[in-house]
Amino acid sequence: MGWARPAGRDRYETGGSGSPYQPRRTTIRSVDPVLGDCSLTSLRKRNSHKWRTYPPDVLPAFVAEMDFDPAEPIKDAVRAALAAGDLGYPHKGFLGEAFAEFAADRLGWSPDPDLIFAISDVMTGISEVVQAITPPGGGVVINPPVYSPFFFRLELAGRRIVQAPLAPAAGGNYDVDPDGLDRVLAEPGVGAYLLCNPHNPVGRVWSRDQLIAVAEVCDRHGVPVLVDEIHAPLVLPGSEHVPFHTLDHPAARRAIVFTSASKGWNIPGLKCGIAVAGDSAGAAILAQRWDALLASHLGVHASVAAFREARPWLDAVVAQIDSNSELLTRLLAEHLPQVRYRRAQASFLAWLDCRELELGDDPAAEFVARGRVALSPGPDFGSEGRGFARLNIGTSPELIAEAVRRMAMATPA
Ligand SMILES: Cc1ncc(COP(=O)(O)O)c(C=O)c1O
Repeated sequence: MGWARPAGRDRYETGGSGSPYQPRRTTIRSVDPVLGDCSLTSLRKRNSHKWRTYPPDVLPAFVAEMDFDPAEPIKDAVRAALAAGDLGYPHKGFLGEAFAEFAADRLGWSPDPDLIFAISDVMTGISEVVQAITPPGGGVVINPPVYSPFFFRLELAGRRIVQAPLAPAAGGNYDVDPDGLDRVLAEPGVGAYLLCNPHNPVGRVWSRDQLIAVAEVCDRHGVPVLVDEIHAPLVLPGSEHVPFHTLDHPAARRAIVFTSASKGWNIPGLKCGIAVAGDSAGAAILAQRWDALLASHLGVHASVAAFREARPWLDAVVAQIDSNSELLTRLLAEHLPQVRYRRAQASFLAWLDCRELELGDDPAAEFVARGRVALSPGPDFGSEGRGFARLNIGTSPELIAEAVRRMAMATPA
């Protein structure tokens, strides 16, 4: 496969740092030092889901946490709260103002801080709101392939998943399908539509026209829209995120938007998300559920620091992901040319079409069994994900090269 393999033990098994492997034709640069060094010695000391799910000989590249060191202002904010013994129940503090400033500066959106709510996390916020606005057994529309908790959290809440798949487009692209959406919204008992923008896993950032088309259809059927915009801070150069609330449309004014600093600044363990109501009715739903939606107080502190003081760190992450996605394109062309990869418009998740590898419905199972690299299984995102796998590229170029090397090793020659 064209890899220069040095003699000696595999340093990934021993917890060594850096990649011992260099592809022959593709140059691998180091990670931006602002983001740490992503050494496996340090990463394997982490006890998070990513680093404790698999044995040490497996390189984890599945769950959506990045390998970068946290931003200094976030560490300072958490340290200051600990030093002050400020570990009580959460108070929203300046979270609304901080997010509104970030949204105005970076997303062209000026939400009213009074309509911004601290929540424990995005999925709990969505689940609570869905339970508030639909009856038990009510239908909720989603667009597979899509983030797997959209299926199981809503089923757990006793709701019925109604699927309006994304439409495959030329060159491995995907589009929202307003006609398909129109058809399923006409079904009896459909009470909400959950839109993902930017979309996980396909990495699309929907255009204003696409969002207006979706808003039109939902408005016609009188179905409220919930929008998950958690990946918006990570929109990559060349794309523009359009916040749903910036649409001049009645469906947008009634929508509730969910976001967080957790993906952009890599702090999901601190448990603080944000829900933004479009009007007083949405705000009342969120206010009534305050006790079911308690954030972590440390997460509130960290999120305020992220939105206000850690924007240079975010910029470094965006630049790193952009360069990583270009690297991945080159590595796949060199070592796994049968894998189809269209660069995402946002975030650090690469949606890989592995169908030509003929590894069956779940190529990730083969990658982990034979190559000792853990990707997210495509079928977890819905039946449209059969033959696909999702690779996390929120890491160093060296570890991306290592992940591709392991995938190639798992693939029949
Ligand atoms: C689209 C999307 N929504 C929600 C989440 C989870 O967010 P939270 O941890 O705030 O529930 C993720 C995590 O990867 C995600 O990709």
